[in-house]
Amino acid sequence: MQTLHVDLKERSYPIAIGSKIDCATLIKQSLPKVHELMVVSNETIAPLYFEALKENLESAGFKVSLCALKDGEQYKTVESYMQVMTSLLEHGFSRDGALIALGGGVVGDITGFAASTYQRGISFVQIPTTLLAMVDSSVGGKTAINHALGKNMIGTFYQPKCVIADLESLKTLPTREVSAGLAEVIKYGIIYDHEFFNYLYERKESLLNADVETLSYIVKRCCEIKAEVVAQDEKEHGLRAILNLGHTFGHAIEAYLGFGTYLHGEAVAVGMNIACIYAHAQGKLTDLQLVCIQELLKACNLPIDSPKGMSAQDYLSRMHHDKKVREGKIVYVIPTKLGRCETLKLSDEEMSLFLSSKICKS
Ligand code: NAD
Ligand code: GLY
Repeated sequence: MQTLHVDLKERSYPIAIGSKIDCATLIKQSLPKVHELMVVSNETIAPLYFEALKENLESAGFKVSLCALKDGEQYKTVESYMQVMTSLLEHGFSRDGALIALGGGVVGDITGFAASTYQRGISFVQIPTTLLAMVDSSVGGKTAINHALGKNMIGTFYQPKCVIADLESLKTLPTREVSAGLAEVIKYGIIYDHEFFNYLYERKESLLNADVETLSYIVKRCCEIKAEVVAQDEKEHGLRAILNLGHTFGHAIEAYLGFGTYLHGEAVAVGMNIACIYAHAQGKLTDLQLVCIQELLKACNLPIDSPKGMSAQDYLSRMHHDKKVREGKIVYVIPTKLGRCETLKLSDEEMSLFLSSKICKS
């Protein structure tokens, strides 16, 4: 097992990465005064992993209960949040109990939001079970639920007390979900670490079936990068925005196609390709670098082309509803070279011209 640290002064916490991790020992270390835990999971993940976790936690003396939510992004709602609140109240949880998020990004985001608001804040632990959650959503303290008018529109910054990424759980993850997670993995190479990009590119044919050693390195490197970025800019006043490469275009694509048509990582893959084509057009990426990025995305079974029929106006109207709009202008994350990027406020006229000429297909 390897342990990293997210350095946030009194809110610092460890990230454990390994196989068959003894969660109870780590949770006891991070939460020495807690005796009662509620595991929040969903109807798909709980049957796979809850019983073993419960046994492990009970053998260490914890009292353990389960709150199993419905599975899916469409249930990242105030109703699911209220289900957790009701469950906590029915079990008589006080402020010295804690929540455990056992699942992907949906469960993690809802649980974090519930933890940050129940009785003005109780502790929580992230046990991510998807690749995306291991490399991204479980680290950094963004919590959220969706509103009918926008994704992740209600939420808080609230850090977990520890993150436990047990790679064993990836064995049951559907391949399409592995691909979606790999989109976020590739993102770290493009925005922050050219060498890591090369590492991924050299292994592109086997990433979908990566062995535990490779996965362990990948999850570790992504968490290191995320921890470095979050430690410098916890609440996204600046640097942290680079983690959104491809997301502004991606969210517009998800909304255009209807949420659920593309997985989040798939839409982000198309969005990253668009941002990289923009960077290439500005002379920031070479022909070869752009081709390598596209080959890597494709090797991971990710889409790269803008949806047929989606116009520049279809992008712009949706991107204006994104959280990344400042003074009426959309802020984009654009590579400045492979392994570095910047945020750019671009006018709608400029973006419309670029999208119409280089991206949108009728
Ligand atoms: P998800 O949580 O919906 O999980 C994907 C699917 O895989 C679900 O059906 C889930 O039940 C299933 N699953 C999870 N683990 C499994 C396992 N081990 N075996 C079998 N099935 C398993 O999706 P996700 O990709 O993990 O997360 C996406 C969510 O994360 C979005 O809501 C997004 O907004 C959020 N997110 C948050 C942050 C953040 O910083 N907080 C960052 C990125 C994404
Ligand atoms: N996933 C983007 C962030 O955590 O900031």
